[in-house]
Parts: sequence; structure tokens; C-alpha cells
Amino acid sequence: MNSCEFVGELLVDPLNLTTLKQVATAHGTVRIIVRSIHYSPFTNHQLPFTISFVGDFYPEKISERFSSPNYAGMIKEASAKGKGASFVCGVSINFSLKINGETKEIIEAKFKTNGCGYVIAAADMIAERINGQMLTDLHGLEDLAILAREELGPVHESREHCIDICFYALGNALAEYRQGLVEEWTGEKALICTCFGVSEEKVENLASKEGIKTVESIGDNCSAGTGCGSCQPLIQEILDAHDSNF
Ligand code: FES
Repeated sequence: MNSCEFVGELLVDPLNLTTLKQVATAHGTVRIIVRSIHYSPFTNHQLPFTISFVGDFYPEKISERFSSPNYAGMIKEASAKGKGASFVCGVSINFSLKINGETKEIIEAKFKTNGCGYVIAAADMIAERINGQMLTDLHGLEDLAILAREELGPVHESREHCIDICFYALGNALAEYRQGLVEEWTGEKALICTCFGVSEEKVENLASKEGIKTVESIGDNCSAGTGCGSCQPLIQEILDAHDSNF
């Protein structure tokens, strides 16, 4: 069943919840939000009674992936970890990455979450896609975000945050990795893009001497920001600071 949501009523025997089990079996995983409970006037709080509910079925592609995720868990000796959380539903998710420092290959990616099937499916798909990828080939996660939307299929707008939170957590893991490399860096010029070894001075020069004004143009010129993308906000800050001085 591909429908995202339905409203209905069930006659429930709370001693064995047989009816709910039958619904779940017939339609796949079902989330029940109890809106109201109507007790029988004849039996007081005795059986049976009726539950009004909104059920939430997962779209087929989401259901397929979340029912058997391959990348759930945490990497013990991770190169970086990143967390995302949402106040919308209380979900939190952690991404852990193992990265080869020399080749910049993501050797392993895993996630851990208390989230719903949408979060699990999106995180699992993202982990699968970045396993074995080079940081320098990620293109700031934009390609991956497009791919995720295509692979997971259309989701209700109220579920968009489930996918967004996965990218937020992954972005934080990549930012932590970048920050770790910057702190270890002993070169003369402050490093800003660790994926491509681009210094802060280089970006400043492109802004002042070449008149470059956008992060995208900086990427076109020296590749900075076109790998993991975690340095993009810093490049933007440099460009903004340069702009405000003129
Ligand atoms: S640090 Fe990865 S793209 Fe710049």
C-alpha cells in the first residue's frame, strides 16, 4: 500500500490487540496515533471499545529499505562523527565515517538513529552511496541530495525533514573531519579547504584580485568547496567580509 495516510476507526480488543495486528500484517508497518477512545456506554470501561486513529503507511521504496538496513550502527574508530536532531518529532541521528586520510576515500559510513522509517531509509541510502566515494567527488552533497530524492521516491512534505536531518548529520560529520585536519595542519598558510588543500589566502586573493563573488565561482576556479562541501560556509564568510570592506 502506497498511501501515506488514512483516517479510520477500529474496534479493538485490548486484551490481545488482534485487530491492530491484522491491519499491520495486511498493510505493512503501521503507526497508530490515538485521537480518542470511545468506551461502550453499556460496558463502561469493559470491552469492546473503539479507537479513532490516523494510520501512517510507508511508501513502498521507503518500506523496502528501512525494513532491512545495511548500514545501521556506529563505527568504533571513526574518523569523524556528526549528529542531527529535529524538534519536529524528537528524532536524532548520528553518522560515523571512516576516511582514508591519504586518498580521502570514505572507507565506511554508518548511522544510528531513534527515527522513523523515513529517517532509516534515507540514512541507509546515503550511507550506501558514500561508501567507497572520494570526498573530492561529493560536490558538496548536492548531487547526493538529488539522488536521494529520486531513489526514495516522492514523500509527503511533512516528511521532508526526515531526509534533511540525515544530510544535516552527515554534513556535521564532514565538518568535524575538516576541522580535525585544519587543527593538525602545520603549513604556513591557513588551510580552508582540506579536500583540495586550498588556503584562506588563495580564496581572499580570488575575491580581491579576480573579483570573484560567489562560492560557486571560487569552486570553478580552484575547486575549493566542491568536495565534501563543509568549507563552503567559511568561503562565503570570506567573500562576505571582502564585500563589506568595499
Ligand atoms: S573541505 Fe571539503 S570541499 Fe572544502
